[in-house]
Amino acid sequence: MSTVFNFTFVPWFRSVAPYIHKFRNQTFVIGLTGEAIDAGKLASIAQDIAMIQAMGVKIVLVHGFRPQVNEQLRLKGQEAKYSHGMRITDPVALDCAQEAAGQLRYEIEAAFSQGLPNTPMAGARVRVISGNFITARPVGLIDGVDFQHSGLVRKVDTEGIQRTLDMGALVLISPFGFSPTGEAFNLSMEDVATSVAVALQSDKLIFLTEIPGIRVDANDPESDIDTELPLADAKRLIASLPAATVPTDPGFYLQHCVRACEGGVERSHIIPFKLDGSLLLEIYVHDGIGTMVVDEKLESVREATIDDVSGIVALIEPFEKDGTLVKRDRTEIERDAGNYTIIEHDGVIFGCAALYPYPEERTAEMAALTVSPQSQSQGDGERLLKRIETRARAQGLQSIFVLTTRTMHWFIKRGFVQVNPDWLPEARKRKYNWDRRSQVLVKKLS
Ligand SMILES: CC(C)(COP(=O)(O)OP(=O)(O)OC[C@H]1O[C@@H](n2cnc3c(N)ncnc32)[C@H](O)[C@@H]1OP(=O)(O)O)[C@@H](O)C(=O)NCCC(=O)NCCS
Repeated sequence: MSTVFNFTFVPWFRSVAPYIHKFRNQTFVIGLTGEAIDAGKLASIAQDIAMIQAMGVKIVLVHGFRPQVNEQLRLKGQEAKYSHGMRITDPVALDCAQEAAGQLRYEIEAAFSQGLPNTPMAGARVRVISGNFITARPVGLIDGVDFQHSGLVRKVDTEGIQRTLDMGALVLISPFGFSPTGEAFNLSMEDVATSVAVALQSDKLIFLTEIPGIRVDANDPESDIDTELPLADAKRLIASLPAATVPTDPGFYLQHCVRACEGGVERSHIIPFKLDGSLLLEIYVHDGIGTMVVDEKLESVREATIDDVSGIVALIEPFEKDGTLVKRDRTEIERDAGNYTIIEHDGVIFGCAALYPYPEERTAEMAALTVSPQSQSQGDGERLLKRIETRARAQGLQSIFVLTTRTMHWFIKRGFVQVNPDWLPEARKRKYNWDRRSQVLVKKLS
């Protein structure tokens, strides 16, 4: 085995660990468009879902079937009819939908039953259970248009789904619902997935779609994907766009993400099925690849508590080992937890810095400034510094100082100037390690 492999695989695998721990026992609802299946992506998506499930996530999979129903209609010489962005389901379309759903369920169950040696599914045991979990009501008449057998979700059998999940099974739901009189209604995958996510209060709702996510400038198809969209911004964006009628309209999936978010689902994602492994990239990588709609900015700078000590230790340990930071005992960090400021994203600590005041000298030391290697150069270091400065000012201090052996230029660029170690407050000077020969840099607070 190449030794380079060890140096890439091991740190990479460890970087995923916080997410594995965090998501264990959480519930994700995944909305899989019929287009993804039509594009031949089912096998690889099933592999990724099986892996996510093996890492302890409870999964509800809702499949769509838009192209498959249209294909059945075409074979019968009929045309698909839509209005207000919804299918009009006449008796022929209902027949086609039932046929398409039956066929797709069979294909999805087959995909989860793969297990050839030397494939990611080897050894996987995904038990797929479907059922009549959805009660529906008719869409009825809108602006004089009769939607016939098209329906909307009226009720979700949360208890039935929860019990099935607790058994360790993957719940598979087709976009069908039944009225109390036993009448079948054709539903939209997006409505079912969103309603299920809200009813279960799932931790995530993820749409695997034909679009790459929501662009920073919705009118510029070349602009970057907005990886994190706060709920208020998502609502503003939808209000500024024409009503979405086709799935490629930017507001189409977004409106469901907003509904989920307003209904208490903390994170809703829109990710592209075209990119192989997009589910894994979105869930287990810091910035993800699609758009995540969140109730508020998830990345927050805040003061640490005793519960954050393990995260802080894990973050600074590699830098202590390579000599960038001075070694601190865990008990010391526990004692001083209140001095630390941290940056947290999605429950994982990505950055920290501590403030140790010397009130008599009206100054304070900023120590242990660290940003985790995978999120450096995104401004987090600067955000921590600003927060530390604010904390120092709030205590009536006039300057902050740092001791550094390797990061001098970073501080100089941010307004620090080098001084002689004699400048240090007496109490700090006594602890100064003359062997380490750290440079002392001071920044005056305005
Ligand atoms: C120093 C550190 C906290 C900066 O965090 P960060 O989130 O990457 O900082 P920002 O995003 O605000 O700034 C990034 C910029 O700083 C530069 N930078 C990073 N480390 C640097 C260093 N040691 N010396 C000089 N510049 C540095 C980057 O190249 C980047 O420059 P650019 O914006 O021109 O591309 C981070 O690199 C770190 O944790 N380093 C290891 C621990 C350490 O040295 N702590 C200081 C102990 S006194």
